[in-house]
Amino acid sequence: MSLPARVSIVEVGPRDGLQNETLTLSPQIRAELINRLAAAGLSRIEAGSFVSPAAVPQMAHTDETLALAPKHNVRLSVLVPNLRGLAAALAAGADEIAVFAAASETFSKRNINCSIEESLARYAEVVAEAQRHGVIARGYISCVLGCPYEGEVDSNRVTSVAGALLDMGCFEVSLGDTIGVGAPLQARRLVERVARVAPLEKIAVHFHDTYGQALANIFACLEVGVSVVDSSIAGLGGCPFAPGAAGNVATEDVVYMLQRMDVETGVSLDRLLEAGAFACRELKRAPASRVAQAYAARCDNPIEAPSRR
Ligand code: HMG
Ligand code: MG
Repeated sequence: MSLPARVSIVEVGPRDGLQNETLTLSPQIRAELINRLAAAGLSRIEAGSFVSPAAVPQMAHTDETLALAPKHNVRLSVLVPNLRGLAAALAAGADEIAVFAAASETFSKRNINCSIEESLARYAEVVAEAQRHGVIARGYISCVLGCPYEGEVDSNRVTSVAGALLDMGCFEVSLGDTIGVGAPLQARRLVERVARVAPLEKIAVHFHDTYGQALANIFACLEVGVSVVDSSIAGLGGCPFAPGAAGNVATEDVVYMLQRMDVETGVSLDRLLEAGAFACRELKRAPASRVAQAYAARCDNPIEAPSRR
């Protein structure tokens, strides 16, 4: 068995996490959360999105969040659905944008009100324009292991969307199990198929944890050479257009697993737990992270918990 020596974590909590929480946090609190996540050593953070505020009110004022967020030792990315969103992202000084397509027609329609083909045509313009401004673009594919509306998803569809996103200039594709239905062998086989059209270093995995499979899925994908993993602090969130979907796998749980396997992440678990406690206090909710729960149970104040690796 071989695992990558180092895994790059893409922290999506301030976007994917907060977009589906009942309480909307102010730009100031969102920036403070990003600050704490960066201080924990996370160098890639999704800071928000420039989408319709009527569709996702939690992400309104992402420009203010970016203005207050840290500028050093961290790359801040934002979700952009069209040229208008890109213009806002450029004006706000985002380091990176992410476009988001789907492997399911119905999800594409519900999420961004257009077909997959239309979305890819739109994104090609967005990515080209971003590149003209020196901004790199990531490409997401939702519903890679199942769709809340269509059920099974054809992996050929995932592969063709991945190829299209890379061809238009995305530096990486993130495979999203939006509703968290995948299991490890499926996840691994999907990565192996996508690896026929994309170098492994350009494939990231993005697991929601609805059925408790996310860590196992990540492990299965690491074994075939994936080294970029998306996760959300405290396991926050979900997708407003995928009813019933749980949050992403918790960053604390991913970091704990990787540390215990001697895989380098550059992240301090102590500081991550502090950031998660901050987010949960602000959201008035408990963490979904099992590691945060375990440390809280060992000591009233997880921040003062006894030594940990
Ligand atoms: P539309 O209705 O087709 O487009 O929406 P439109 O041009 O007719 O605009 C509709 C309204 O949105 C108008 O406002 C526009 O001005 C406004 P109104 O006149 O009705 O007041 N608008 C915008 N406002 C701000 N920024 C913009 C923008 N564009 C239009 N950039 C649209 C199309 C894509 C805009 C809309 O459907 C939308 O915003 N959807 C939200 C999508 C979203 O954020 N989904 C969640 C993120 S995806 C996800 O979570 C999955 C992921 O995590 C991976 C995984 O887990 O699988 C990435
Ligand atoms: Mg997601």
